[in-house]
Amino acid sequence: MREVTPKKIREMKGREKIAMVTAYDYPSALLADRAGIDIVFVGDSLGMVVCGDENTLNVSVEQMVFHTRAVAKAVKRALVLADMPFASYEVSVEEGIKNAVRLIRAGADAVKIEGGADHEKLVKKLVRMGIPVMGHTGLTPQRYLRLGGYKIMGETEEEIEEILRDARALERAGAFAVVLEFTLADVSKLVTEEVSIPTIGIGSGPWVDGQVLVWHDLLGIYENSPPFAKRYANLGETILEALREYGREVKAGKFPSEEHYWRYQSEEDFRRKAESVLKSPEKLAREGF
Ligand code: KIV
Repeated sequence: MREVTPKKIREMKGREKIAMVTAYDYPSALLADRAGIDIVFVGDSLGMVVCGDENTLNVSVEQMVFHTRAVAKAVKRALVLADMPFASYEVSVEEGIKNAVRLIRAGADAVKIEGGADHEKLVKKLVRMGIPVMGHTGLTPQRYLRLGGYKIMGETEEEIEEILRDARALERAGAFAVVLEFTLADVSKLVTEEVSIPTIGIGSGPWVDGQVLVWHDLLGIYENSPPFAKRYANLGETILEALREYGREVKAGKFPSEEHYWRYQSEEDFRRKAESVLKSPEKLAREGF
């Protein structure tokens, strides 16, 4: 069992801020874990930042299982959280359970679903059977078509009410935390005070119990980052310059240089072997070369 458990995340509320980041592959997850991040999250944002889609609606359970397996192999300390993709839990509670089990068997410690009040029954069942659940309210990107794009949430009384209703339903159902995405900071503060489970914000201000960022936004390797994402590095530029230099060196015959290839120590030895091989093509054919 990994060191950071859902129980530990719950206990961090009011004591220590929770740091969460997405990761979709082995090397990224290894670095996130080594950096001491609390939750390494295989988000369905991979549809956008890894696969180049405009939204997350095309992400399948198979994709989530594939990426969760890679991440789970790398992480020793942090909690591994896997996203339930669009339409993998809305059709029925049974289907939601089956798909959550697939993610757990791929190595996740917990699953995340978007919404709250609509899925209270599912969350309750999952928690009872031993699958920890994180909820997600405020902006819910899987409702991209209905919302007509991405917009900040919590501007109207109806929206505040819906966000609060979701958070309370999740708390009641036994979820261990809730993500608040792109929500006005005053509303996030209110929700954080109103529920006993930790709130993890993204674009929702400082008065929450933790923060989550998308790997590619944080490191500067995605061109369409949302306005609330802070870039902690500009790796896009670094990678671009490395690739340009590689291309230049290949064309100029500078790569590979001596330290990147191996030769026979004795030219004489090689010449003898080569001559023997070149003289007997039939022998080579017989041996299947
Ligand atoms: O998929 C994802 O990356 C997310 C975060 C925005 C919380 O759901």
